[in-house]
Amino acid sequence: KPYIVIMAGGIGSRFWPYSRNNKPKQFLDILGTGRTLLQMTYDRFLNVTDVDRFLVVTNKQYFDLVKEQLPDIPETNILKEPQRRDTANCIAYASYKILQKDADAKVIVTPSDHLILNEINFIQNIEKSLFSSEITDRLITIGIHPNRPETGYGYIQYFIDDTEAAKKVKTFTEKPNLKLAKTFLESGDFVWNSGMFVWKVQSIIKAFERYMPEVAEVFEEGASFYNTDKENDFVIRAYSQVKNISIDFGVMEKSDEVFVILGDFGWSDLGSWMSLHELQKKDQENNVVDANALLYDTKNCFVKVSPNKLVVIQGLENYLVNESENVLLICKLDAEKKFREFVIDAKAKG
Ligand code: GDD
Ligand code: MG
Repeated sequence: KPYIVIMAGGIGSRFWPYSRNNKPKQFLDILGTGRTLLQMTYDRFLNVTDVDRFLVVTNKQYFDLVKEQLPDIPETNILKEPQRRDTANCIAYASYKILQKDADAKVIVTPSDHLILNEINFIQNIEKSLFSSEITDRLITIGIHPNRPETGYGYIQYFIDDTEAAKKVKTFTEKPNLKLAKTFLESGDFVWNSGMFVWKVQSIIKAFERYMPEVAEVFEEGASFYNTDKENDFVIRAYSQVKNISIDFGVMEKSDEVFVILGDFGWSDLGSWMSLHELQKKDQENNVVDANALLYDTKNCFVKVSPNKLVVIQGLENYLVNESENVLLICKLDAEKKFREFVIDAKAKG
């Protein structure tokens, strides 16, 4: 049975102020289902493996949150990062730790903050990916049919091959600029990288050795510390030596062992208020709205305020109104590129 590495160390700044540094998006019940996105990720993969094969990699700051939200996972399977160093290092840490335990392991790496609507198709896709990852040193990605020139994703171009589910990847371009994203979309030749990966632990280790030797060297040195009480001290040292880099830039763009399996399971990375707006139930004027709001002449808005407030709005179109704790944010619903700035400036205000 495969290991599941859940990456849960991001800060989800594009859902600010709802998603905060002390409780980012993956720890929120953002869809109102009663389960947080992290819990939904866990539930989904319980169909594929056993509880003790889950590893959650997160910032040490979120350790208690993970423990509280996933009480069945052994505490030693919650990997604490001292700093944020992006996904390449997160994956390297988990991979070398798994390698020490089980050199023949198969691994599924997944974000903690995505939505998947069709679980049956999803599981089938994962099974195909696991099967295909057996061959040589393949790094399997799951590709999603694109529908807009999104610049926050990776774009995958692949060799057409009707004989096999896994198609060899021709090019992988992480976060292209808008012009390039438009060209990719119009060519009809590209799919998005979903950010989920399937491989043998050996395959990804080889890829680190080849494409990120500095990272391989640092984490390889931990071999005698993983799964002992010295692990934490080692990891603090290791993280102080590595640079911030994602797996997409560090490995996927470079490797010629990348294969893509096309996925069709109702995927969203819930990357913005706008994408959440698209998914949520709307009133007749296309507003997503809490019960405690009165809207007049208002269209296409997302209104989310704390439960003890009544909000009254007139004449707004395409706006987000979000009140969370001590912040009230009113901005265009599609202002997602501004959120980094909001968060930085708000921090400076105290
Ligand atoms: N543990 C840990 N440590 N987790 C992290 C870290 C880190 O330093 N940084 C990010 N993560 C987690 C996030 O919480 C998220 O679940 C996942 O890793 C992916 O990180 P994002 O920061 O959300 O990546 P992205 O959305 O910019 O891009 C990735 O996902 C896209 C699809 O949503 C890439 O893989 C793209 O190629 C892909 O298209
Ligand atoms: Mg993301």
